[in-house]
Amino acid sequence: MKLEFSRVLERARRFEKLSAEDLIVLLDAGEDESAALFKLADQIRFKYMGSAVNFRGIIEFSNYCLRNCHYCGLRKDNMELARYRMKAEEIIDGAREAARLGCKTLVLQSGEDVFYTADILAEIVLKIKKEFKMAVTLSLGDRSREDYALLKEAGADRYLLKHETCDAKLFFDLRPGTSLEGRIKRLKWLRELGYQIGMGNMVGLPGQTLEILAGDIVLMRDQDVEMAGIGPFIPNKQTPLGSAPGGTLEMTLKTLATARIALPRTHLPATTSAASIHPHGRVKALGCGANVIMPNMTPRKYRGSYSIYPGK
Ligand code: 5AD
Ligand code: SF4
Repeated sequence: MKLEFSRVLERARRFEKLSAEDLIVLLDAGEDESAALFKLADQIRFKYMGSAVNFRGIIEFSNYCLRNCHYCGLRKDNMELARYRMKAEEIIDGAREAARLGCKTLVLQSGEDVFYTADILAEIVLKIKKEFKMAVTLSLGDRSREDYALLKEAGADRYLLKHETCDAKLFFDLRPGTSLEGRIKRLKWLRELGYQIGMGNMVGLPGQTLEILAGDIVLMRDQDVEMAGIGPFIPNKQTPLGSAPGGTLEMTLKTLATARIALPRTHLPATTSAASIHPHGRVKALGCGANVIMPNMTPRKYRGSYSIYPGK
């Protein structure tokens, strides 16, 4: 074990606030060091979050998207995807099923789909809150402040708006027509409106460095997020990044463990993407700091079409 690595790990054990440089040292853990990193993350998860795994049902209610992100299968220009939109009643049925299975939180996710106006969504949120008493998390991408306000009034509790990468140039290159600044501005609005917020990033994006990954964690720490979704980038043949190398499980686990150390009280899901690249991805993530699982409550007939990446 390198001296520098063991020094940073020791400081993490004493709960000292780690700098971006410290986080890079952890992210750079070698084969002989990662076991110690994972162990500390697991201990911190246990100390702050306990041993219960939280189940948060997710309904992916529309795979229409007006954006063209270079990495994502839902991008507008992907003509190979069969598109669907769930009706309000179907969404509510899914919520009922999630409640029946014991989920205390329901996540409603979609591409950026203007078909669902804030009024339509507010009505769905109202019904779910009234009937099932679950916490409702929305994950609908960039919207206006007015939309976010209306949905909060309807009873939405949380909003998941992943920042994807903290590098402004990479963000702009990968997400044409959008900016990191716009994303951060929206996260600020959501906070002001009283939402709990979730952010998150992909691991292994083309052009990503350890400095950028450490920056992702620092950014989420600065925003004091309640949830951080961290998963590997998985190349999708139906996108411009189809031939790029994907993120590895090893790097994803190191990022997750480092995030747990820097964000001791934040909910960290064992992401579907981590499960998709390795048969034990989810279990391994739970051993490296993750404490949330998000079972898919999308009706089976639609599930195959929410193909953000292969193997989902
Ligand atoms: N690999 C992994 N995750 C992806 N996402 C989109 N495309 C990919 C991909 N190719 C994630 C992003 C986004 C959400 C819709 O799915 O983090 O927030
Ligand atoms: Fe749309 Fe989100 Fe996919 Fe971008 S990442 S294409 S905004 S669903």
